[in-house]
Amino acid sequence: MTPEEKAAQLTQYFYLQPIPAANKPALEALRTTGLGSLLFVTDPAEVNRLQRIAVEQSRLKIPLLFGFDVIHGLRTIFPVPIGMAASWDPALVEATQAVAAKEARAVGVHWTFAPNVDIARDPRWGRIVETAGEDPYLTSAMARAQVHGFQGPRLGAPGHVIAGPKHFAGYGASLGGRDWDEVELSDSDLWNVHLPPFQAAINAGAGAMMAAYMHLNGVPAAANRNLLTTILRDKLGFKGFIGSDSGSVNKLVTQNLTRDTQDAAARAIAAGLDIEMVDPGKLAAMSKLPAAMAAGQVPQARVDEAVGRILKAKLRMGLFERPYIDEKAVEKTLNDPAHRRLARIAAERSAVLLRNENGVLPFDKRRIKSLAVIGPMAASAKDTLGPWVFEQNGASAVTVLAGLQQKLGKKVRISYSEGVRMPARMFPSPSATADKVPERPPLDETTEIARAAALARDADAAVVVVGEAMNMISEGGSRSSFTLPGRQQELLDAVVATGKPVVVVIFSARPLHLGETRAQAILDAWYPGSEGGTAIANLLFGDAVPAGKLPFSWTRSPAHAPNYYAQLISHKPNPVNGRYWNETSAPTYPFGYGLSYSTFEYTNLRLQQPSVPKSALVVLNVDLKNLGDRTADEVPQLYIHQRFGTSARPARELKGFQRVTLKPGETRSLRFVLSPDDLRYWSSATNGWVNNASAFDVWVGGNSEATLHGIFELTG
Ligand code: BGC
Repeated sequence: MTPEEKAAQLTQYFYLQPIPAANKPALEALRTTGLGSLLFVTDPAEVNRLQRIAVEQSRLKIPLLFGFDVIHGLRTIFPVPIGMAASWDPALVEATQAVAAKEARAVGVHWTFAPNVDIARDPRWGRIVETAGEDPYLTSAMARAQVHGFQGPRLGAPGHVIAGPKHFAGYGASLGGRDWDEVELSDSDLWNVHLPPFQAAINAGAGAMMAAYMHLNGVPAAANRNLLTTILRDKLGFKGFIGSDSGSVNKLVTQNLTRDTQDAAARAIAAGLDIEMVDPGKLAAMSKLPAAMAAGQVPQARVDEAVGRILKAKLRMGLFERPYIDEKAVEKTLNDPAHRRLARIAAERSAVLLRNENGVLPFDKRRIKSLAVIGPMAASAKDTLGPWVFEQNGASAVTVLAGLQQKLGKKVRISYSEGVRMPARMFPSPSATADKVPERPPLDETTEIARAAALARDADAAVVVVGEAMNMISEGGSRSSFTLPGRQQELLDAVVATGKPVVVVIFSARPLHLGETRAQAILDAWYPGSEGGTAIANLLFGDAVPAGKLPFSWTRSPAHAPNYYAQLISHKPNPVNGRYWNETSAPTYPFGYGLSYSTFEYTNLRLQQPSVPKSALVVLNVDLKNLGDRTADEVPQLYIHQRFGTSARPARELKGFQRVTLKPGETRSLRFVLSPDDLRYWSSATNGWVNNASAFDVWVGGNSEATLHGIFELTG
C-alpha cells in the first residue's frame, strides 16, 4: 500500500445523499486511493453503488466499512437509551439492539456509533438521553447488553454490526453540563465512575471505540495518548479499532493542541487513534498523513498497526467475501411485525410511573366514556420517536393520540387539543438541517389553552402530554432550566384547574419541574419510539403495568446539578439535604424510583454468612411479596456502603438488581451475590485498585432509599 492508500484506510467521510456537494472529498478519495469508511448512507442501492466503486474501481479493491448512528433503532424505533435503561432489563435491551443491528445490517451498515456509555450525572447535559444515566453499575449492565445485542455471539455474526461504545472518556462530565466544554476528572472519578462502563463494553467484545471530542484534563481526547493507549489499550485491554468523533482530528488545531492539520493527523495516530471521522464537506486531516510520515512525525509501525486494525475489521465482517447487500431483502427485514411488537414491549417496560394519587391509574375501561388528549407532544410523531432518528430512517410512530384512538375505538369519545406550541431554540440544534420541523400555521395559544381546558371539563379525564421537544435534547441539547418549555405549564395548570382527573405523560430525558402541579398521575414515557402511543394506551388502561425505575436522581433544579445519589458522607452528615439554606436539595424522586399499579413488600434480608474473607463471595437473600391484586414487575435493587478503608466510599452504591414478575400475593426469595470485583474500588491513596477488609451496610429495596438493611464484614 502507498502512504496515500494507508492514510485513506484511516479515513471515514460523511456521505450525505441529499447534499451532493458535501460528498466531493469522499468520492474523490474513494476512486483514487480507496477509503476506510463512509458514514450516514442507509439507502441500500446507494450503499451497493458506493461499494462497487471501492471494490471494482479502486486500485486495491478494498471494500468500504459503512457506519451510522443506530442509537435506538433504524426503521423500528425503540425508546431512547435513557428509557431503555429505565427498564432495568438487560435482556430486553439486548433484544432491541439485536433488532436494530438486523435492520441496520440489512441496509448495509456495518458499524454503529453506539452504545453511548458516558456517565451523565449532570442532567443539564443534553446527551443524557443517549446514556443509561448517572450510575456506573447500571450503565455497565446496559453497555454489556447493548454490545451483545449489536454484535451477536461474535464479531462478524450475520445480521449484526460492530458496536462502537463512546465517547472515550468522560464526556458526560463537561463543565456546567455544557455540551462540548472541557472535562476535568480526577483519577478516582475516572476509574470508579466513568471507565467501568467502557470496561464492561470491552469485556463484552466491543469491536470499535469512539474517542470523545473534548479536552480531558487539558488534552483533547482524539490525541490523548494516556487515554487512548495507556488506559484504553494497556489497562482496559481493548483490542478493536479506535475512531474519532466527527471532525475532531482537524479540530485539534482549534482546540490549541497542534500547529496544523498535518501535526494533528500525526499526533492523533501517535496517540493511538486508528480512524478519523471527518466533518461533512471537509478534507480529512489524514490526507496530510503521508507528508507527516515523510517528515518522520509519526512512526511507520503505528500507521501500519492502525491500517491493520481497519482491514481486520473488514475481514471479520466478511466484506471481502460478501461486499454487497441483497437490496430485494431489505424491506421485508425492516417491516418485520415482530420488530414493532418488541418496540411496543420496550416502551411499556421503560415507562416510569412517578405519581399515582388515589389510584387514578389505571383508568377503568368501564367508567371512562370520554377522554381529552392534550398537549404539543400528544400527536407529534417526531417527538414520539425522539432524537437520533433521521428522515432517511423512514421511521413512523404511533402517537399517544393515535394509540388511544386505536385502543378505545368508538367506545370512548376522544377529543384533542395541541394546546400550545414548542418554542424555538435560541441556538439551533446541530442536527437542525436533518431534523427540519415542518412549517405550520400559527396557533393562538391563549385561545387554544382555553379550548383545551373546555375539552377537559367536558371529559371524564384528561391525558396531557408535555415535555421537551426532541430537538431540545441530545447533542447541543444542554439546558439551564428544567421547567416546561414555552407555555406548557400554563396549559397543564389550566387543565388541572378543571378538577377533572389529569394524567401527565412526560416526553423528556432529564428531570423536569412541573411547577407544583396537582395532576393526580405522572408517567414518564421518555421518547418512547415507534409503538410509543400503543404502549402508553396499554399502560394507562392497565393492559400493561408500569415497572420502570429512574436511572437518575430527579434533581429538583438545575442549580443543584450535579446531585447524584452516590455521594460521600461528609463530616457533617446532617441535614444531608439541608445544604442550601433556602430550600431542600433532596431530589424530587430518588435514583431507582418508580411506582407500580401494585405494591411490594421487602422482608427477611439474610446474609448467608455475616463475615467472609475478602476474596470470597457475599451471598444474601431477600423475600419480595406482591401485595396487590395484579401481576406486576418489580426491580429489587441492592445497595452497599463501605464503612471505612483506604478511601472513603459513597453513602450508597448500586451493586445488584433484577427485574422480576410476581403474581398477586406471590412471595419470591431473591438471591444476590457480591463478588470481590463488585467490592473493589480505585483509591487515590494508592493509585490503584483495592479490596478492603471492612464493615459494609447493605440495603435491598425498590429504590435508592431502600430501608431493609443488613451488615456484613469482609476480613483480611
Ligand atoms: C457525535 C457522535 C456521533 C457523530 C456522528 C457527533 O457529533 O458526537 O456521537 O456518532 O456525530 O453522527
